[in-house]
Amino acid sequence: MKDKLIIFDTTLRDGEQSPGASMTRDEKVRIAKALERLKVDVIEAGFPAASPGDFESVQAVASVIKDSTVCGLARALDKDIDRAGEALKLAKSSRIHTFIATSPIHMQMKLQMTPEQVIEHAVRAVKRARQYTDDVEFSPEDAGRSEEDFLCRVLEAVIDAGATTLNIPDTVGYSIPQQFGATIANLRARIPNSDKAIFSVHCHNDLGLAVANSLAAVMNGARQVECTINGLGERAGNASLEEVVMAIRTRHDIFSCETRLDTREILTCSKLVSSITGFPVQPNKAIVGANAFAHEAGIHQDGILKSRETYEIMRAEDVGWTANRMVLGKHSGRNAFKSRMTELGFDFSSEEDLNKTFARFKILADKKHEIFDEDLQALISEISFHGEEENIKLVALKVCSEMGETPFSTVTLRVGNEEITGSAYGSGAVDASLKAIESIVKADAILALYSVNNITNGTDAQGDVTVRLDKAGRIVNGLGADTDIVIASAKAYINAVNKLNSADQRCHPQKADV
Ligand code: KIV
Ligand code: ZN
Repeated sequence: MKDKLIIFDTTLRDGEQSPGASMTRDEKVRIAKALERLKVDVIEAGFPAASPGDFESVQAVASVIKDSTVCGLARALDKDIDRAGEALKLAKSSRIHTFIATSPIHMQMKLQMTPEQVIEHAVRAVKRARQYTDDVEFSPEDAGRSEEDFLCRVLEAVIDAGATTLNIPDTVGYSIPQQFGATIANLRARIPNSDKAIFSVHCHNDLGLAVANSLAAVMNGARQVECTINGLGERAGNASLEEVVMAIRTRHDIFSCETRLDTREILTCSKLVSSITGFPVQPNKAIVGANAFAHEAGIHQDGILKSRETYEIMRAEDVGWTANRMVLGKHSGRNAFKSRMTELGFDFSSEEDLNKTFARFKILADKKHEIFDEDLQALISEISFHGEEENIKLVALKVCSEMGETPFSTVTLRVGNEEITGSAYGSGAVDASLKAIESIVKADAILALYSVNNITNGTDAQGDVTVRLDKAGRIVNGLGADTDIVIASAKAYINAVNKLNSADQRCHPQKADV
């Protein structure tokens, strides 16, 4: 009998802390439902004290998820814990995750607290969280740079106070696998009441070692891994869920534990997270990259044709890659459309939503003969439901681009109830169009990133554009998809401006501390 390895997904919390990756409440609910289908054990849905929007998102996820535990993050502060407890009220199974920094540099420079005060806060926070739920996780932030003796003292005290999971974060991605594994083994051996809690790890990828460190910890007795889809997360990201899970599964000869995940759902989750956040997956990314199972070299192909195990250690279909995706087209009816959307994990909550999306599908199918799953994902991402209508909308765009001439674009936008037209010259059709939009919206932000990816193959493919705007340190990603990349770019720019204008300003859990 193998031990159970708990998979704790923090895409919606730490993943969202990635600059520009913020998600709306409905987007979070869609991702949470996909994670539930993937059968992750715990979904960290957000940091309820960060803003009213974050609170509502955690509440919304808590009210729909039934098969995974829903978790809310809270600093070791009464007000944060109360907010988390309140947001999780409707959850079938809830967890509060509270944390405080324990490294000398964080305690002195950030918290300006003595080690004794840190222990006091940690114990108080855990006791308070236990008033809301029996499932309480505690993290000593920056454990990777904390002194082991002090970690032992804090962790022993929080177990006595009622913590059921002890999460050891390598907050700044500083650890090395062998050493991190040894830390976990030492903590388990040295803390007298360590058998009363589950040890967890949360590794950041600054040195590209997040997955390796997590696996080293598992080999040394950690029984929960915190990770994110596509490795999304602060700076270089968190340990990638798909890599951790497939390593455990593929090397079952080495690991004495297993997860309950339905790995066939991995690819759907990966694509969903990428299309919602606008963070593309690199082609050579393990497990979910477009080339992860592509065998180009003749010698590999020859081997694969004779016996797939010659070069394949995993089966593509086990992580959701399938050869025969159903293709929809302009003659597909509402039922075929609806059933494909359901298979992709998108449930329409009303007839109105279905009609609205189907109408957009028909427009796309007129332009593009074959519609692939990726096109449908992009379509869903573009449409906002439940009153989250965008204040600024693209009404018309005309661009003149002729060899030897300076491109010129005229754009009409609806801003609230008013239609406004603006024009501009630019170095290319995209540049002219974005300048024309800027002449109307006056966002006055820095264009930090502009990227175009084709969603599927062929010259009739939709271009998927990400525009990242930075206004005084506030970073947002705008997304747009269309068979015409100038229009996709305009949509992405407008989407980013709408996000910049939205009121929901949140506080960062690790910056503003106790
Ligand atoms: O990286 C980190 O330390 C965190 C904590 C809040 C667990 O994200
Ligand atoms: Zn983190």
